[in-house]
Amino acid sequence: MINIAIDGPAGAGKSTISKKAAAELGYIYIDTGALYRTVGLAVTRKGADLSSPEEIASVLTGDISVELKFIDGEQRMFLNGEDVSNKIRTPEASLAASKVSAVPAVRTYLFDLQKKMAKENNCIMDGRDIGTVVLPDAQVKIFLTASPQARAKRRYKELIEKGMEVKYEDVLSDMIKRDYDDSHRAIAPLKKADDAILCDTSDIDLEQSIELIIRTIRENI
Ligand code: DC
Repeated sequence: MINIAIDGPAGAGKSTISKKAAAELGYIYIDTGALYRTVGLAVTRKGADLSSPEEIASVLTGDISVELKFIDGEQRMFLNGEDVSNKIRTPEASLAASKVSAVPAVRTYLFDLQKKMAKENNCIMDGRDIGTVVLPDAQVKIFLTASPQARAKRRYKELIEKGMEVKYEDVLSDMIKRDYDDSHRAIAPLKKADDAILCDTSDIDLEQSIELIIRTIRENI
């Protein structure tokens, strides 16, 4: 199977770009952040303390099923049989995902599922540790990034378009903090694999970014 790993910081456009590139190449697109979000939702629903790694880990040893299915070519997430694909997109779910993703037991729990998906499908898998931990033998590894300012500007525009009142400076400082947390955590920190190709989208638009990724994959496969 052909496996492409795309890692990078929040707001680099990984999911939008990966989804388009996968459609163009005829591969499936696997969004691993959705797995962490689903576990985050499970932990929240159980009322476990998000600041306690032990409580988070105990949810996984209970009666829990996390499934990833493709319906009409789209990834859907199921928690104990319920389709939670939309429920994992709230700001609370993002926060819970970020907390659970720092717990080793959660990463171990989700590792096999990610490996199995990659073994059975030609895929583009995106996340934070795909090239470094999950698929170290991926045929092509890309580290997709952009400056904090460029990513904050995009995120700011999205939020304003959704009618939210935010300040650019706050979006930027959140972005810088999240980068720091993601790249300094003890387990599976966000890090470019030594053999990953660096793609920087700071000065190019979405269409150009998609073209860059497709070209990079085709040239390196
Ligand atoms: O990409 P996202 O925002 O949906 O990711 C949700 C959270 O999960 C985020 O805090 C980073 C974490 N994550 C991770 O630790 N490893 C991955 N492979 C994917 C996401």
